[in-house]
Amino acid sequence: MDMERDLEAFVRLRALNDPTPLTVEELKIRWAAYQDRLLHGGFVAEVFGAVVGYARWARFHEEKPGVASVSVAVDPEFQQQGIGSNLLKTSMESMLANGIHSPFGGTDASRERSVRFAQNAGFEQVQTYHEMECQLGEREAFEVEAARAHLFALGLAHHTLTISDEKDSQLADLYDLFAEADADEPFTASVGVANFETFCQKWALPEVQAGRTISVREPNGNVVGMTYYSCISDGSSLSEFTGVRRAWRGKGVAAAMKLLILEIARMNGVRSMHTSNSSMNPAMLKINRTLGFQSKYDWMILEKQGGNH
Ligand SMILES: CC(C)(COP(=O)(O)OP(=O)(O)OC[C@H]1O[C@@H](n2cnc3c(N)ncnc32)[C@H](O)[C@@H]1OP(=O)(O)O)[C@@H](O)C(=O)NCCC(=O)NCCS
Repeated sequence: MDMERDLEAFVRLRALNDPTPLTVEELKIRWAAYQDRLLHGGFVAEVFGAVVGYARWARFHEEKPGVASVSVAVDPEFQQQGIGSNLLKTSMESMLANGIHSPFGGTDASRERSVRFAQNAGFEQVQTYHEMECQLGEREAFEVEAARAHLFALGLAHHTLTISDEKDSQLADLYDLFAEADADEPFTASVGVANFETFCQKWALPEVQAGRTISVREPNGNVVGMTYYSCISDGSSLSEFTGVRRAWRGKGVAAAMKLLILEIARMNGVRSMHTSNSSMNPAMLKINRTLGFQSKYDWMILEKQGGNH
């Protein structure tokens, strides 16, 4: 096995179906960050020593040990020869041997062949994410005064920090909020945070550290909401998470926080902000569309019906 060759092939073939390409270096950083807890398996298909396809599965949640994502890609020149089906079959067996009973996968919803491939293997659509973008480069400032006044009228204070400035003591607080809000998202199997330890690991990733966070608190310091973004590349950022305590929802807290953080991003030179918005999350969709986010493409999540056996 030649690891460098396989990684290069993985990156090249992954780009066939995933519109957010990664370089080999980015991939290594990402995998290294999760290595301790990421149970995963990978297979390649070779023709005369050249990699023409891969399959990879990965379990993200220690607390959901039976759930894993699986992805398959085959070089277009070698498609329609059963290579993808064989790779998927091998992955399913490997997952089963590792206790994975609920595999899921994702694909660009416009790629009919990929969707059909997954459906033929018994996977069915459970969710769609609108991959959205908000152009900040050319636009005028957001009207922050009204958002600030709104939070003030609710008796709340907001704090803007670079993520590296968030004190360790505050992280436990933020994690509590994160766990409450995350549990309410319609589909969370793909979120790479399962407990406080992994939350801290995620918080320490370089791209997250380079981003910004807004937390909103009651006068006694209790955290009510937070939103943060990370930096994907120069001028391009990802709005990663927005969450509000259940007791404070429906009062415009998230709308105000998100507007404020977009203005901070704009002032910091971010030209485009990306986000992934579940079609089953109408409140977040309303906020994002109001702020100027537009759909770029839809990412379909499919789950193996009846489980893996
Ligand atoms: C999504 C979430 C952050 C929204 O927070 P919030 O503070 O309650 O949101 P707001 O009060 O600012 O409401 C925003 C808008 O959504 C609208 N909205 C709320 N629920 C809605 C629904 N079911 N259908 C349509 N619109 C809805 C509100 O009416 C409001 O619009 P308006 O100002 O025009 O009235 C919060 O529900 C939450 O923490 N959910 C769990 C975590 C999550 O899903 N995060 C998003 C993904 S990262």
